[in-house]
Amino acid sequence: MADKPKPAPKYAAVETAARSRPVTVSTLLDMKRKGLKIAMMTAYDYPTARIAEEAGVDVVLVGDSVAMTKLGYESTLPVTMDEMLHHVKAVKRGMSRALLVADMPYLSYELDHKEAARNAGRFMKDGGAHAVKLEGGMEVAPIVKELIKVNVPVIGHLGLTPQSVNRLGGYKVQGRRPEDAEKILTEARILEGAGICALVLECVPADLAKDISKRLQIPTIGIGAGPHCDGQVLVSDDLLGLTEGTPLKFVKRYADLRSQAVKAVADYCREVRDGSFPGPEHSFTSQP
Ligand code: KIV
Repeated sequence: MADKPKPAPKYAAVETAARSRPVTVSTLLDMKRKGLKIAMMTAYDYPTARIAEEAGVDVVLVGDSVAMTKLGYESTLPVTMDEMLHHVKAVKRGMSRALLVADMPYLSYELDHKEAARNAGRFMKDGGAHAVKLEGGMEVAPIVKELIKVNVPVIGHLGLTPQSVNRLGGYKVQGRRPEDAEKILTEARILEGAGICALVLECVPADLAKDISKRLQIPTIGIGAGPHCDGQVLVSDDLLGLTEGTPLKFVKRYADLRSQAVKAVADYCREVRDGSFPGPEHSFTSQP
């Protein structure tokens, strides 16, 4: 039988109070305890960070998805620490209340724990991030501990982990077979034990995400993981309709900015060519 929907918390009052204070990792735990859903999205630049803040987003992630959304790479694998840091700094300049999370790019943490701490530290010290996110299960638990030793809060990421796309054989739903679901649950517990402050669950069945969310004290943030996670994250370009082509099943487009932008630029080209832009209202006279 389907679960009865939980009564909606009294958001208006709670949100007004919560939104006046900066979001910290403790806020996220508190939100889970109070049953308040966490709204997270990616941003890669200053204007998007301003939009996220004005709209009341709780957590802004500078995702390594920047590789595909903004840098035109085919996967997240090529993006470097320096490229990520450039985007983290731009987003930081637009932040006021939300928690800023920087994604550790491929090979910036897996090979050497000290190098992982140095790279995470760069995001905190030079980029102004409040936390980092890294992908993987039990193999990254010692790295999580190493980062916490140097006071870097860490968000985990299980399920479809795009940095492992070649090993996984594509961008596919993970944890459908009982043994795979069991492994994801075990790894979630190991990561929680290692000290992560939240866990992103990407492309896993909704009932698995529900089970994990119930069993963990820390909040889960879902993307393609159904409605029972403690929060949701979407890639800003997907949410705003800036990406080309048909969106993935789990994406909800809340706007269609790409087609609006194409139309605006086409109108501009036409007006330049037919001489109707610039008109007198966009031109200067010799007298002020
Ligand atoms: O890089 C990213 O945008 C992410 C989200 C999909 C969680 O990791």
